[in-house]
Amino acid sequence: MRTRLFAYVATLTVPVVMLLPATVAAQSIAGSDPHPAVHLYDVADFGIDAAEVTFTKHIAPILQRSCQDCHRPDGGAPMSLIDYEQVRPWARSIKTRTSIRDRQGAMPPFYVEKDLGILRFKDDPSLSDEELALIQAWADNGAPRGDLNDMPAPREFAQGSEWTIGEPDLVLRSRDVTRPAIGPDRWGDIGLVPTGLTEDRYVKSVEVREINDLPPGAGSDTVGGRYIFHHMTYSSGVLNEDGTAIDEDTRVRWPIHEVGRNADIFPEKFGTLLQANSALHLGASHFHSNGIAETTAHLEFGLIFHPKGYAPEYGNRARVGLGNGNDIDVVPGRSGQEMHAFTVLNQHTKLVAFEPHLHAPGTRMCIEAIWGRNHFTLNCVGYDHSWVKQYVYEDDAAPLLPKGTIMHAIGFLDTTPGNKNLADSRNWAGGGRRSVANMFIDLGYAVELTEEQFQSEMAERRATMTDRNKYDVGCPLCWAEAPSMETATEESGQQ
Ligand code: HEC
Repeated sequence: MRTRLFAYVATLTVPVVMLLPATVAAQSIAGSDPHPAVHLYDVADFGIDAAEVTFTKHIAPILQRSCQDCHRPDGGAPMSLIDYEQVRPWARSIKTRTSIRDRQGAMPPFYVEKDLGILRFKDDPSLSDEELALIQAWADNGAPRGDLNDMPAPREFAQGSEWTIGEPDLVLRSRDVTRPAIGPDRWGDIGLVPTGLTEDRYVKSVEVREINDLPPGAGSDTVGGRYIFHHMTYSSGVLNEDGTAIDEDTRVRWPIHEVGRNADIFPEKFGTLLQANSALHLGASHFHSNGIAETTAHLEFGLIFHPKGYAPEYGNRARVGLGNGNDIDVVPGRSGQEMHAFTVLNQHTKLVAFEPHLHAPGTRMCIEAIWGRNHFTLNCVGYDHSWVKQYVYEDDAAPLLPKGTIMHAIGFLDTTPGNKNLADSRNWAGGGRRSVANMFIDLGYAVELTEEQFQSEMAERRATMTDRNKYDVGCPLCWAEAPSMETATEESGQQ
């Protein structure tokens, strides 16, 4: 039984992602974009003697926290990283995959660039500079085991059915879908899933996973061979009288499910409504054959509710609409290609999550907020189309953007053979729904704030800013208090 989903959003025609560690640095990274470096550190800078670094004392705790969710039996990753004997042969590869930190192929798959923008995210498994330094020193030193007494107690994993959001209050199941081992991609509506709710409930978090009948270990050298649901765009609403459709006026949009995408954890003040007598409408699904075997699969939707009686403080999900799916013109065989998209925020807006979405040629995306003369780079993240990730901001770090802010997204593409996600680097490509064509959107979501909410959230931020140099890049107006008249008069009087 599979317990995690992994993104492999390539279609059948995209080759598996097999990054030979030695070539990662040389090919995938070089020339892809302005961030070519591997992140190498010296443990001495952290006051640690390289010769002292051992598996049991330093490395095992890192693997437990950031790797074993996947790298364990039944965890979905190709090998277990639990015992020394299992880890030792992978030492060099672990060093390579972690030191490329935010580039295609990096482990853990979470690609936020740490040298700029906002760095506080929910569920962030990424490694600190010191942890990278420890791994590097350990691998370079022959990967010593160390004293068994230093070994932390093993993590306990529930058998087979773990949800990252915790035990759901409600699990909904789609109908079964079967795809042949090899066949064209398919799009379609796979119908309604009644929730059975007899009262309205607000959902706090949701996780979607594919359960299928591929034997464990099948197609284990890439996540692409494990799943047939490429993505699912779904909504919900109240069922009509005969239960055959949902009433359009009650339709609620949900964040997209994509293979391997992490769970949605909504902010405390926001809930997604699931009404009494409602159903999920699995309206737009995209399937691809996994190239291994005929596979039958369904999706499970795990939902955790806010307590009964909860009323959200935030109103609507904001429609930011940052991106451009149509006017894409991608030249073959060239790295560092850029796409730009702009939109203006019509309401005060809090960005809840950033979810860069490109296709196979994509290597990086940045978002900026332009306010007045200033450009605030909120985040730049690497992109690997094998792992479509979203980055959920901590509530008190999420961008608070005034109405009128211009949002700017920059997508970076690499169509040279160095990009291992590409099927073919020789052809021109435009926009399109298949992974071999291109997309360029921020699929992240945001909430609209009233003037009052906006002012009060900014006041909360300002209260934490003890020093004028403590700058919040996601809050352009946090320091923009108007000078009092007295100060203004004094100043003009001095001139
Ligand atoms: C979300 C699940 C997940 C997490 C977390 C994760 N991995 Fe992986 N890892 C995978 C999968 C799936 C693959 C195979 C596909 C790929 O390479 O993308 C993989 C591949 C690898 C490989 C290459 C294996 C090969 O065949 O060459 C290494 C090395 C690796 N991971 C190390 C790590 C380390 C070290 C961590 C933690 C710091 C980690 N991974 C965290 C899922 C994960």
